[in-house]
Amino acid sequence: MKWGAIATWRMAHDGVKKAGDILKNGGKAGDGVEVLIKTVEDYPFYKSVGYGGLPNEEGILEMDAAYMNGDTFAIGGVAGIQDVKNPISVARQLSHDHFNSFRVGEGATKYASLAGFEKQNMLTPRAHKIWEKRLKEVQENQLNPYDGHDTVGAVTLNSQGSMAVGTSSSGLFMKKAGRVGDSPLSGSGFYVDSEVGGASATGLGEDLMKGCLSYEIVRLMKEGLTPQAACDRAVYDFADMLKKRYGKAGAMSLVAMNNQGEWGVATNVEFTFSVVNHKEEAAIYIAHPGENHTTSIAPITQEWLDAYEKRIKAPIED
Ligand code: GLY
Repeated sequence: MKWGAIATWRMAHDGVKKAGDILKNGGKAGDGVEVLIKTVEDYPFYKSVGYGGLPNEEGILEMDAAYMNGDTFAIGGVAGIQDVKNPISVARQLSHDHFNSFRVGEGATKYASLAGFEKQNMLTPRAHKIWEKRLKEVQENQLNPYDGHDTVGAVTLNSQGSMAVGTSSSGLFMKKAGRVGDSPLSGSGFYVDSEVGGASATGLGEDLMKGCLSYEIVRLMKEGLTPQAACDRAVYDFADMLKKRYGKAGAMSLVAMNNQGEWGVATNVEFTFSVVNHKEEAAIYIAHPGENHTTSIAPITQEWLDAYEKRIKAPIED
């Protein structure tokens, strides 16, 4: 019986453990992915997803999310949705509709409200304070305002061989109103085919969507590459190509799992992720770009985790 879950960033770890419990007990791949992502969305100290996420330059929190069913290819997505507790659940619900399954802005928020999804003011006082501080810094020092694009992206496999993928993100901190990243875009932020595997992305949406890297990784796995080889090939080849032809490449990190529960990751920055499967306990790893288009992966250290915990909860100085 093979099953597994992999997700971007250390922040996904508690959700990965919950998804693992669902998947190993015969639960649905979609339930695993939704529970995993809701766990991240609900935690107020994660600044780039759901409750506690950082707002756009106008101080408004606009969130993007998507869900895909690897058995049927059904997709649901929302972009620029506001004041909804769990955008991933809205996206999953939308995946049941053949038409109108990707909603943006007011239309997404209205759909969620009419469909009975829980409303919540998602902008925490802490996130508001960080926004005020950054606004001042940008005005005074002419800083580049953009920062923070740590999407949670997750792939799950259940014991019946069904797969699902989901994403959720508040996008770039200080983004322009209406800006949408890769997270809700099929092929860029996510893709899954239960007969092959799935992949999901985090990083600079504007660059990730130039390469459709999630689809590319699934395509390479279909050609027979392992998830690790597929991630390495897709990410490093594309990062090189982007630097050569566009002049620069932003942060790009991808996770993948095939339908045997084998996994891979690749990144052009420092990147943490969490994974569990039928053979391995849930664990957090840290990845860096390695030599010759490979990825160096090591277990996370307690020192790193302690520093992270301190950083995300540090008081916001005026
Ligand atoms: N990867 C998330 C974003 O760029 O919005």
